[in-house]
Amino acid sequence: MAMARMRCSRQSNPHRILVVVVLAAVLLLPVVATAAAAVVAVAEGEGENRSAARQWATGKDEGELVAGEESGGGGGGSVVEDEFAGGFGSLDSMLQWAIGNSDPEKLKEQADGVQKLSEDDLLKRRTEIKELMEKLKMPSDADLMKIAIADLNNTSISLEDRQRALQELLLLVEPIDNANDLDKLGGLVPVIRDLTNANEEIRTTSAWVLGKASQNNALVQNQILGYGALAKLVKMGYATSTEEAVKALYAISALIRNNVNGQEAFYSENGNAMLQHILVSSSDVRLQKKAVFLVTDLADFQLNSGKSGLPFLSDSVFLKSLVDMLSRFDLDLQEKVLLAIKSVLKLSSTEATDFESCDLNSVLYRLGVQLEELPSEEQKEYAGEVDELRREVQTLFQNKLKEGTKIAL
Ligand SMILES: *[C@@H]1O[C@H](CO)[C@@H](O)[C@H](O)[C@H]1NC(C)=O
Ligand SMILES: *[C@@H]1O[C@H](CO)[C@@H](O)[C@H](O)[C@H]1NC(C)=O
Ligand SMILES: *[C@@H]1O[C@H](CO)[C@@H](O)[C@H](O)[C@H]1NC(C)=O
Repeated sequence: MAMARMRCSRQSNPHRILVVVVLAAVLLLPVVATAAAAVVAVAEGEGENRSAARQWATGKDEGELVAGEESGGGGGGSVVEDEFAGGFGSLDSMLQWAIGNSDPEKLKEQADGVQKLSEDDLLKRRTEIKELMEKLKMPSDADLMKIAIADLNNTSISLEDRQRALQELLLLVEPIDNANDLDKLGGLVPVIRDLTNANEEIRTTSAWVLGKASQNNALVQNQILGYGALAKLVKMGYATSTEEAVKALYAISALIRNNVNGQEAFYSENGNAMLQHILVSSSDVRLQKKAVFLVTDLADFQLNSGKSGLPFLSDSVFLKSLVDMLSRFDLDLQEKVLLAIKSVLKLSSTEATDFESCDLNSVLYRLGVQLEELPSEEQKEYAGEVDELRREVQTLFQNKLKEGTKIAL
């Protein structure tokens, strides 16, 4: 699947098509000749395989492909490439057939007097065909990554080609083995460099690639952190383009997830100020949800690991911006904010009184009323779940307040 998409995505890159076409022109001719000989040999003896033979005989020839390539250019190239992809399929079945029917014993028997090839010739041909099939195999992921990386490393490449190379890497780094190879192949440096590209789309896709590659992968996380990419990503979190900020936040989350070094770097790069900025100033709910989700994730990591490296999670101004978000009329956002408050409340560094001073109690009460009154029929069930969570947070908050009072007494 990834391969198929890959092939489509590189469809209009002229020099790549040219490589494929030249390769095909060199390799196809002898194969076609060999296979055709076998086809004729059998077809003469067997009426039933005539149609198959005709189908191969009218298959693509390389002249057509080269002509298409020359006039193809940008958009037109896609048609050529698609046809060519189809050509691979029939070539494959042709070779399979040719090998199956090149069995010396079988052929000898079938073609009898008509067959003029010696057994040695047939064996030799069979080996040749096998070798050709090996050569015609699709390039490996590493090959494809090298091509994309070489493009990214080339400063004179067009923006369109750069974007395409990034899109290709985006798919290629999904398997963990490929992600592990990215730095070895020299890919991380040019991708990180593109985080500061003048083009917004390039910056956005670069962040996306880094997030994808570092997801659940401590090795790649540390490599990217080692190159100092976090500072650039934090800056991107302030982007006016929602898409850019969303992808930056996605990359940051993937980069520092369960990673103490990453979280410390996030703090020292003032990532918390960026988060705060999104919570307070963004008008985009999707971006806010991502920011709130990151808060929950960081708090949960502290709770589970017992490591406390992020004092901002308990900062009173930060807590206030979380609580204020409960007044936004978005059920999904409200649920995510409640989850964040729940996790942050559990941190020993968080003072319940800080939540008290931003009026968490009445905010939760008002939310309860809203959840009861507002939801439409189809949202009722969801609203019920969110309300349950709201009660849980309220209880947690009350208990923490009581504990605090006890200690104070
Ligand atoms: C005819 O060709 C098909 C492949 O298309 C092959 O599987 C089949 O064995 C051939 N029939 C005979 C009688 O050789
Ligand atoms: C860089 O890209 C340009 C434009 O596509 C191309 O002409 C040039 O050969 C490339 N350089 C390398 C080293 O691949
Ligand atoms: C990228 O280009 C630089 C200098 O142009 C070169 O030193 C480096 O080896 C290249 N990296 C890759 C992966 O091609």
